[in-house]
Amino acid sequence: MLVSPSILSANFLKLGEDILSVSSSDMLHIDVMDGHFVPNMTIGPLVCENIHTITNLPLDVHLMVENTDFFIDLFAPLKPKFISVHLTNATHLHRSLQKIRSLGISPSVVLNPHEDPSALEYILPELDMVLLMSVNPGFGGQSFIESTFKKIAHLKEMTTRLNPKCLIEVDGGVNDTNIKALSELGVDVVVSGNYIFKAKDRKSAIKSLQIPAETSLR
Ligand code: DX5
Ligand code: ZN
Repeated sequence: MLVSPSILSANFLKLGEDILSVSSSDMLHIDVMDGHFVPNMTIGPLVCENIHTITNLPLDVHLMVENTDFFIDLFAPLKPKFISVHLTNATHLHRSLQKIRSLGISPSVVLNPHEDPSALEYILPELDMVLLMSVNPGFGGQSFIESTFKKIAHLKEMTTRLNPKCLIEVDGGVNDTNIKALSELGVDVVVSGNYIFKAKDRKSAIKSLQIPAETSLR
């Protein structure tokens, strides 16, 4: 299981220190919110542009924005490993994903809690990852929505059939009480904000989520 701590739960006044404190993880999750698609605003590329000078962790950029293509252009220069775009917000999803790949970045699509994986039938072969929201996007520290378990099983059946290399990432309310079930269902990557950043011992919190699985970043 790969672990991607969400810096949304970090202390932005000491962001560098907080990023260093999660260096035993596998990626760094960057939540980008525009105050339109979600009722919150976070960070732009300026805040992130020097992240690579303090960490080698691959960046996992999650765009919660209305104007998807505009934000792809803004964040691509950071050379993230993944850019995840919400299904709802890409008018020409296929084109946006091609654009992400042409920039040397792995494309990923995000489903909100109410959205059906079946909508990905024709786009799944183009994807390197699907991100399932297990909370409503906008805030850290919310409770895991239980119907996500059923949705993971559905998506896993689809990835096995259409694109076995496509990773499944789950974002929101992940902690040591649900990690085992997520792993058994075939989740490859978990995002975790509050559970890691509010822990007394962040390294142990990360370790408790990095339960053995065969996934590695390709
Ligand atoms: C929610 C964000 C998540 C969130 C996860 O909009 O996409 O990445 O920060 O935080 P926790 O783990 O606290 O739910
Ligand atoms: Zn996120």
